[in-house]
Amino acid sequence: MIKKVLKILGYLGILALIVIQFIRPEKNEAGYEAFKAFEAETKPSSEVVGILKANCYDCHSNHTNYPWYAEVAPVSLWLEEHVDHGKDELNVSEWASYSVKKKDHKLEELIEEVEEGHMPLDSYTWIHGTLSEDDKTTLIQWATLARLQYKTQLEVSAQ
Ligand code: HEC
Repeated sequence: MIKKVLKILGYLGILALIVIQFIRPEKNEAGYEAFKAFEAETKPSSEVVGILKANCYDCHSNHTNYPWYAEVAPVSLWLEEHVDHGKDELNVSEWASYSVKKKDHKLEELIEEVEEGHMPLDSYTWIHGTLSEDDKTTLIQWATLARLQYKTQLEVSAQ
């Protein structure tokens, strides 16, 4: 009896997995346009671009570099949730629409998150690896420099 129930549950599980494959989240794939305005303003070196691409843009821009397993539900749904949440907090593709104050603040947060090792999220570093100390220093130096222009603009407008 128990065996039979387990067998039915097994079939139902497989059926559920097949059925959820039909839920296909819309892909977050705007291409290079997604970073253009942000990079034009914050002027990352090619090294910084490399770090951002490999560790941050996937959840913080309109372009995600999807791994093959992102095609498979429920992973695809779980990824979509992370990307949506990440973009709510910081979306470099919307950089042009952020106020100077917000840009400055987001870079400040970026420095903090990187310093404290909160970003990238743990669930991401399982697969992609964590940032090296060198990567962290490089990111923080770039963000600190990029903030200067916004700080100056804020000071000028306060006068
Ligand atoms: C797997 C997705 C993912 C990756 C990869 C990722 N983040 Fe995030 N990020 C999030 C989510 C989700 C949040 C909001 C929840 C939280 O703070 O934990 C967030 C929050 C942030 C915030 C806070 C914004 C604010 O105003 O509070 C900053 C800054 C940030 N991330 C920067 C980065 C940087 C820099 C990297 C790369 C080194 C990175 N993130 C990689 C998903 C991600």
